[in-house]
Amino acid sequence: MPNRLDLPAGFRWGVSTAAYQIEGAVTEDGRGPSVWDVFAARPGTVRDGHTGAVACDHYHRYPEDIALMKGLGLDGYRFSIAWPRVQPTGAGPVNPPGLAFYDRLVDALLEAGITPLPTLFHWDLPQALEDAGGWLNRDTAYRFAEYAAVVADRLGDRIPAWITLNEPFVHMVYGYALGIHAPGRTLMMDALPAAHHQLLAHGLAAAALRERGLEVMIANNLTPVWPASSSDADLAAAEAYDALHNRLFTDPVLLGRYPDLAAYGVGPDLGGCVHDGDLKLIAATPLDGLGVNYYNPTRIAAPTDPGLPFTFVDIPDVPHTAFGWPVVPDGLRELLTGLRDHYGAALPPITITENGCSTTETSEDQPRIDYLSAHLDALAEAVAQGVDVRGYFTWSLMDNFEWAEGYHQRFGLVHVDFETQKRTPKASYAWYRDLIAAHRAYLSR
Ligand code: FCB
Repeated sequence: MPNRLDLPAGFRWGVSTAAYQIEGAVTEDGRGPSVWDVFAARPGTVRDGHTGAVACDHYHRYPEDIALMKGLGLDGYRFSIAWPRVQPTGAGPVNPPGLAFYDRLVDALLEAGITPLPTLFHWDLPQALEDAGGWLNRDTAYRFAEYAAVVADRLGDRIPAWITLNEPFVHMVYGYALGIHAPGRTLMMDALPAAHHQLLAHGLAAAALRERGLEVMIANNLTPVWPASSSDADLAAAEAYDALHNRLFTDPVLLGRYPDLAAYGVGPDLGGCVHDGDLKLIAATPLDGLGVNYYNPTRIAAPTDPGLPFTFVDIPDVPHTAFGWPVVPDGLRELLTGLRDHYGAALPPITITENGCSTTETSEDQPRIDYLSAHLDALAEAVAQGVDVRGYFTWSLMDNFEWAEGYHQRFGLVHVDFETQKRTPKASYAWYRDLIAAHRAYLSR
């Protein structure tokens, strides 16, 4: 059995974060409001009324955070750029102090020997664009491409590879279908234009990045889908869920087509939002890498009510994280080999752009070490089975604002005291640091 030390030469070790979850400083230096500022301010949206207004105060404390990253011996750092810092209303003139923050961050990372891996959109849409329809409005895709070009012109001389979007699936479903995340819309299947317009935005931004000689990735949330039984009804439900969660966001970018969504009563034009030529555009710039965010498999049974063609069911007999997410490390191997089998030659090299587990303020840290080590062994197994995986970025560097859960779910290698902003490395921080060093030593033996 291969293990994590068998990961190949050149494999890149990293950590991931996102702007709204760590930066704070939401009104500083001309930043405009984002959908998350507005959503979190609304009573009843985020647990205990928490908001990202201060978060980890990373906007001011980034040198300390980069020192922590340096202590881990990281190759790369995945972070996101807040669109409303760069363009406060999502369009038009650039806000120079906002862009300057990322300029300083990038220089400080490079000085620490860490390659920046930016994500251009991790859910914090400028509120002005939301007021004009957000991702339901096709125009948002064109605004995104302009924003991407502005940022790439400023930082592209120092950053080789770029991620356009983070988890367009979660953003569409939680933000536009169910209303659990910003912008809090509850449109169910009428949220589909938010999927298409994000993918169109990806395609337009990918072209802008490529024109500037930069590499392009997307970070998708992917899950192995397990039918609850081998009955035809459960198999059909699992197939329908796989199309929605996985293939809706990956087939267009890799294969230039949408999966069959007939189970949702939707045709190939997703209810009319797909225009001629859009799919060609979405797939036109081949990805240099696919970012995979993996947390757990999803078990699916036949629908119990007529609204949707599937029902979620629990995965029994496995541990669950503090969030209640099932812990199934081998699901990562299954996911990766499944991607290779499904996409074949169309699959670019993979980077794990998120993987990790949450604990609470009072839990121990050992479950995180167990989670990470088992997932990395499963990753090594996938590599041994022939999947091309180039790096692993754990979620997350430090405890942060976990969206609708506020500060209650702690995903960090570093503990953050949100009263004092004191950072304290956990046992998993030392474990990850030692693993990275051991892997390097193993390769050079
Ligand atoms: C992912 C998000 C990330 C973080 C983790 C726990 O869906 O991309 O921001 O919240 O979940």
